[in-house]
Amino acid sequence: MAASSEIAHRELDGTDAEVLVYSYYRDAELRGSNLLYRLLRILKDDASQIALSEHLCDETRHAWLWTERIQELGKAPVPITDGYQVRIGKRCGVPRHPVDLLALTVVVEQRALKRYQEHLKRADTPDRTLEVLRSVSKDEGWHIDWVRQKAREIASAEGSPERYDEAVERYRAIDKEVWEELEGIERSWTEPR
Ligand SMILES: [Fe+2]
Ligand SMILES: [Fe+2]
Repeated sequence: MAASSEIAHRELDGTDAEVLVYSYYRDAELRGSNLLYRLLRILKDDASQIALSEHLCDETRHAWLWTERIQELGKAPVPITDGYQVRIGKRCGVPRHPVDLLALTVVVEQRALKRYQEHLKRADTPDRTLEVLRSVSKDEGWHIDWVRQKAREIASAEGSPERYDEAVERYRAIDKEVWEELEGIERSWTEPR
């Protein structure tokens, strides 16, 4: 299968469209794991190291579940070069301050959860895909909670508790722009013609 940008410009059959959407999900999970590796190097306290290890384990499992789902369709994952995280990165780079990095993680986790919840509501979704969507969604709640709590704790300890909310607001605006682009692209693959 060709790269995603080429595929977007030609007609897709149903399986190709499914594989492409799952490849975008997989890409977001893998690139989200990259943010966690950065956090592992920055947050040295015991609780963060433990939470990050479990969190990373979840995200790589999510990437595997999408890979497995793609394999079940007799295909391989499509390399994604213009996915959600790449578009986010082009707009805001990778934050250096831990509070900013944690705030960005919260925003991208919330987007993943919304994307999966929206997909769960689609009428024609195959049972196996529903199973994967439910499995990946159930982990996102604790991911968001612990990352948000840690960000607030660091921001308060540094005497600037407002830093977290300001960062979330900044990244939400970027996420909204990126999502408006991607939602239209995804819809063009999956809507009946
Ligand atoms: Fe995930
Ligand atoms: Fe997550």
